[in-house]
Amino acid sequence: MSFAVLPRAIMSLFRMRPSEPAPAEKAAVVPGALPEVAYLTIETLSGPDYQFDSEGLFSDEVRGMLHENYAIRPLASDDFHKGYVETLSQLTTVGNLTEELFQERFARLKRFNEIYYCIAIEDLTSNKIVGLGTIMIEDKFIHEAGRVGHIEDIVVNDCARGKNLGKIIIEALKFIGKEKGAYKTLLACSQHNIGFYAKCGMAQKEVVMSVYY
Ligand SMILES: CC(C)(COP(=O)(O)OP(=O)(O)OC[C@H]1O[C@@H](n2cnc3c(N)ncnc32)[C@H](O)[C@@H]1OP(=O)(O)O)[C@@H](O)C(=O)NCCC(=O)NCCS
Repeated sequence: MSFAVLPRAIMSLFRMRPSEPAPAEKAAVVPGALPEVAYLTIETLSGPDYQFDSEGLFSDEVRGMLHENYAIRPLASDDFHKGYVETLSQLTTVGNLTEELFQERFARLKRFNEIYYCIAIEDLTSNKIVGLGTIMIEDKFIHEAGRVGHIEDIVVNDCARGKNLGKIIIEALKFIGKEKGAYKTLLACSQHNIGFYAKCGMAQKEVVMSVYY
């Protein structure tokens, strides 16, 4: 969990707005009132359903690059309601991605959470998803059963471009790739994005071939 969202999460545990007094102060104001802890619910304790366990996978360096209005974290099952499709649509055609289909795919990606790592940047002022990216970790036989990272589906919502969020997403995915033992990470991009990836410390090498079905 991002440090930026931690205070909000603590507030939500007590169902309080930031301006409300702390539980101890409140109890003192209303003698005999139930302790605030009585308001804890299973829903707030369990928290969002994340696609992967982020423990150790978001470096302090990556988090330090992010403005406090944003949080970087794994994709969550409720992101569908936070403008996920709107942002993803700015990458390519998404088609009719219903909530049912989203949840089905989310559950599958979660089952394969040692292979797929889908990350999101949330704007904490609007609670909208403004950035997305994925790294897939491929297990190989070559290079002494080495691993290769593949970065996919990078997009920053046009309302949030030019604020370094794209670069932060790439840095976060590169870090996950390294942590997961990849000896290199690859991606395919269009000609006009080469400059962006170069600024993210990546270099052009070889070519990509494709076939469409
Ligand atoms: C490409 C994209 C992800 C960049 O996101 P962004 O958040 O606006 O980029 P950043 O603010 O992190 O930019 C980082 C640096 O790259 C530069 N940059 C951004 N886009 C660039 C581009 N297309 N070409 C060259 N440089 C670019 C920025 O000027 C910035 O440079 P600086 O560090 O000198 O200031 C975003 O424009 C986008 O989502 N585009 C549509 C979807 C897309 O094409 N995705 C990539 C698929 S391969």
